[in-house]
Amino acid sequence: MPNITLTLDGEQYSADANDTILTIAREHGVNIPTLCHLDGLSPIGACRLCLVEIEGSPKLQPACTTVPAEGMVIHTNTEKLQRYRRMIVEMMISEGNHHCAVCVVNSSCELQDLASEVGLTHVRFPYLFPGKSLDASHKSYAIDRNRCVLCNRCVRVCHEVEGAHVWDIAGRGLGCTIISGMNQPWGESEACTSCGKCVRVCPTGALIERGVGVSEMHKGEDFLKYIVTARNKKEWVAKGE
Ligand code: FES
Repeated sequence: MPNITLTLDGEQYSADANDTILTIAREHGVNIPTLCHLDGLSPIGACRLCLVEIEGSPKLQPACTTVPAEGMVIHTNTEKLQRYRRMIVEMMISEGNHHCAVCVVNSSCELQDLASEVGLTHVRFPYLFPGKSLDASHKSYAIDRNRCVLCNRCVRVCHEVEGAHVWDIAGRGLGCTIISGMNQPWGESEACTSCGKCVRVCPTGALIERGVGVSEMHKGEDFLKYIVTARNKKEWVAKGE
């Protein structure tokens, strides 16, 4: 692999030229907040929380999808970035119905954790209270679209890991919403295998198990690393194939 040298928050590192800024930062213990990114799923740069400053570049760039060039000087935690990240989380919260006190993932929610990480104390924007639909037609799971932050993780895990492609995003702008099947009730989607991967990677209380109460659900995407590693090593391919 070709190697490059770059500067990250004042420290010089050499790195694999094919790795993203996020991967390199994590390898060296530099924390960059993320939401749509999940190791094992393709990076899409949707949430913009991982924006970093690159000297000489007029625009902020998402660390999860940007591959650095030789000699790049990157800043990951400037005052400007802190302000932008806080604003992004504020906009996400004001755009949906995120009422933690009555949410099943309260205290196990990545949006909640991010709000505290970026130092959010209040939301300056008017709440939109979108009134999107809730679908509890699946026998085991439910989706509350008002709590969705459109990170696209459910769409990617279902398509890339489970191979079922139940989920998609429909609409534009504020009207964007997650749909199942051909925009039909989740319980009627014949492609759904009921594996629950979408529920486990969802960072908020949008995708949940049915029957759990407030603060009772704990998500976890550990399975993803296990599946992706095993696939890369072809551990499930029969000998001789
Ligand atoms: S984590 Fe990079 S854009 Fe969402």
